[in-house]
Amino acid sequence: MIDLSTTDKAARALNVKRCREKGIILPTYAQMRDPSLIPQKYKDELGTIGLWDVHPRNLFRVNWHNEPVEKGGKFGGVNYLELPRELTGTKARIVGLVGKWFPTGAHKVGAALSCLLPELVTGRFDPTAKKAVWPSTGNYCRGGAYISRLLSCPSIAILPAGMSKERFEWLKTMAEEVIATPGCESNVKEIFDKCIELEATRPDAVIFNQFDQLPNHLWHYTVTGPAMEEVFKKIAKSGDHVGGAVLSSGSAGTLGSGSYLRETFPGARVAVAEALQCPTILENGFGDHRIEGIGDKHIPWIHNLRDTDAAVGVDDELPVRLIRLFNEAAGRATLVEAGVLPETVAKLDLLGISGVGNLVAAIKFAKYYELGEDEVVFTMFTDSMAMYGSRLAEMNAERGAYTQRQADRDLDMLMGLSVDHVLELSQVDKRRVHQLKYFTWVEQLGKGVDELRAQWNGHREYWGGLRSQVGALDAMIEEFNAEVLG
Ligand SMILES: Cc1ncc(COP(=O)(O)O)c(C=O)c1O
Repeated sequence: MIDLSTTDKAARALNVKRCREKGIILPTYAQMRDPSLIPQKYKDELGTIGLWDVHPRNLFRVNWHNEPVEKGGKFGGVNYLELPRELTGTKARIVGLVGKWFPTGAHKVGAALSCLLPELVTGRFDPTAKKAVWPSTGNYCRGGAYISRLLSCPSIAILPAGMSKERFEWLKTMAEEVIATPGCESNVKEIFDKCIELEATRPDAVIFNQFDQLPNHLWHYTVTGPAMEEVFKKIAKSGDHVGGAVLSSGSAGTLGSGSYLRETFPGARVAVAEALQCPTILENGFGDHRIEGIGDKHIPWIHNLRDTDAAVGVDDELPVRLIRLFNEAAGRATLVEAGVLPETVAKLDLLGISGVGNLVAAIKFAKYYELGEDEVVFTMFTDSMAMYGSRLAEMNAERGAYTQRQADRDLDMLMGLSVDHVLELSQVDKRRVHQLKYFTWVEQLGKGVDELRAQWNGHREYWGGLRSQVGALDAMIEEFNAEVLG
């Protein structure tokens, strides 16, 4: 459960004062889920504000309904992209929510805001004396640094040195400190080590560890899951079903949306995707991989294995090749020739590397479960190619210019995806993976074994209890805002 009762009245009063001085109003979860609830005067203000501007009103843009424009956008339907059969080679309908239209260009800004909100409204986080530390393999620390800036809180971003140049360059403009930890994508242990070191040596550091913060799960359960439901209601033909959700796990926050779908649509399955080069769930394995945003070699504390029906391994060479097919001129021409509508091809830059990895996993999932044309599979296009231009340039340097011949091969590879490395999780498999948490979280990071057991044995109370806190949390946010407005 999120601690909503421990408060620091003095620090809370300072937070209220600071928000009043800076004109900061916090969004509620209800507003993030349904922006029509945002007061009209704040919506009007957004008319002159850019999507990425450091402006407190952009807190209201932490939702899936932003108009897809760089500046002045208000709210419309959920941002999503359905990929046609000519590109997926499967009968089922594959639909990804699009993260590009969040401030910072990735949906992780929601997880970051959700982790900070309870600490601000209880006064447990005092930005006049502390710095918010955002450990991440990429977008969460970007989101955290950005949200901190909107709220006038100083921040420290932690991410692996191997992440893309675009991330580092922007972060330097947003966070007070940027710490690069050794290794690449899958070196999460090194990130945890840095957090332990900061906690021991920096009394001003408050760690917002997305991998164990329940508000991360809560945000996706409360906001992302209903966004998928809204898309389904919009696109479903009579008799259509939700086949499931296929989501890779960085912190396992996004998987919270899968739990929502599973509860809302009987028969929907949830699959977790991971890189084949680091098959932690599939094989308790380890290794380095190139799907930026998915950190592994551990199971996040907030991953609810009871709600995870399958694991899908994705060879990282696939998204690496497919971002070229989707974005290079020769690739796009090949796709149009194959019958993909030019307007769809023009939108393929909405998928970053992990988005393409998710697409591959969703196709494998649809094929494995033999889903038909009346079934919709949801996945996540977390961020866009805006974050990975340098990767395309690197590949052109390494592999030569992208040619029609290579595009033909890559499209064949996509059409011919097999169902290898799909593991339907038995009850024992689920428990096996859940129990892996013991080694990271109980042995190394000091979590209680009772809570680990409660996540499994008392799963209904544990996860259900957490989700039922959202009303109380919203009431606290509203009370806080009322004091800010005086
Ligand atoms: C690009 C990208 N894809 C996928 C993920 C995984 O999302 P989650 O942390 O919610 O599991 C992340 C997380 O940072 C990410 O940055």
